[in-house]
Amino acid sequence: MTSIFTNIKLLVNTRQEFKLLQGNELKNLPCIEDAYLIIEGEEIAEYGSMSALTSANRQLPTEINVCGKYILPCWCDSHTHLVYAGSRENEFVDKIQGLSYAAIAAKGGGILNSAKKFRETTEEELFGTAWERLQELTRLGTGAVEIKSGYGLTTETELKMLRVIKKLRERSNTLIRSTFLGAHTYPLEYKDDHQGYIDKIIHEMLPVIASEKLADYVDVFCDKGFFSAAETETICKAAMVYGLKPKLHVNQLNSIGGIETGIKLNALSLDHLETLTENDIQLLSRSSADGTWKGTCTLLPTAAFFLRMPLQPARQLIDAGCAVALASDYNPGSSPSGNMNLVVAMSCIQMKMLPEEAINAATINGAFAMELEKNVGTITAGKKANLILTKVVPSLAYLPYSFGSNLIEKVMIRGEWVQ
Ligand code: NIG
Ligand code: FE
Repeated sequence: MTSIFTNIKLLVNTRQEFKLLQGNELKNLPCIEDAYLIIEGEEIAEYGSMSALTSANRQLPTEINVCGKYILPCWCDSHTHLVYAGSRENEFVDKIQGLSYAAIAAKGGGILNSAKKFRETTEEELFGTAWERLQELTRLGTGAVEIKSGYGLTTETELKMLRVIKKLRERSNTLIRSTFLGAHTYPLEYKDDHQGYIDKIIHEMLPVIASEKLADYVDVFCDKGFFSAAETETICKAAMVYGLKPKLHVNQLNSIGGIETGIKLNALSLDHLETLTENDIQLLSRSSADGTWKGTCTLLPTAAFFLRMPLQPARQLIDAGCAVALASDYNPGSSPSGNMNLVVAMSCIQMKMLPEEAINAATINGAFAMELEKNVGTITAGKKANLILTKVVPSLAYLPYSFGSNLIEKVMIRGEWVQ
């Protein structure tokens, strides 16, 4: 089926060629005013200025006149934990009353609380709730998403979690990447036997995950009270033997050497980064500039907001020449929201990213952080027709400015309207 959108007020992020955007490059958001866009099947076929529209194209079977509205590529959310059981609003109230995220984790709450609920929930139920969350995200404009394991923490339950992600991938139009995060925390039974759990990850979990092709990437929560930089390196190196590239949780709560490790392993992305020292920023800057590290700094502002932590230093990272991506971190403990519109707004409001920078970071750089840049993240012929059609808005900056309002009229994923 071929359709043509006409009279698009602004067609956003149109690129024939695309690369990971670093530093100053993030400011440049190529757009076409008063544009048309042709979709063939599930792909973008052609686009351009209305004045260049040929009479042959005028005759295409379905014309959708979107006068006054904007079209953007769908959000690419490169960091979520959206398969989980239950919720944790009791801890949310504990936090209001003064407990910190680390204190809740230390007393057996947090990730362990979710792991307990996870183990008691069937695969069917987990699939059902995750499916609902995914549907909600597509209505909010997310067209590609990475999902992590990490609430199982036993071989059997980590595999169960990865199988749920696999099923979501098979049944959904959304493009999905899967990440193995067995090293999310030490399960209680291994509290005093870290090496025992690491051995289990390396010798029991990874071989099955690799043979069943259950994950694209490996992740480790590298932080004080969780996994050290040396432990992170050991786990990642073992996973890399199976072709799983690292995408890491680093410097969320403390700076303990995760940046050095991530750069050394050429991690696809280093995520969180709430707690960066000057030295960390210099390392990220230098290695991005000289090409020794080719990954993205993935910032998760809703997680910092929810835990009342300082927001990530986006301005400093961009001004230091780094590639920045934005993601939701959707999970029950630190970001019970997967709304990328809010992530983009918060990045502009609180982290002083320009709207153009935030949109690039949440689309093409997010796609790079999942190695989906050839499929999504820009308006480019041959890429998937994953599109956000806005309501009538006065400008692009109005989207993050008007935070909290739903300015999306409709979303298209792979050429099909989301109901
Ligand atoms: O990205 N910090 C580690 N993992 C998640 C939180 C997981 C949880 O609290 O359930 C995060 O913030
Ligand atoms: Fe996370």
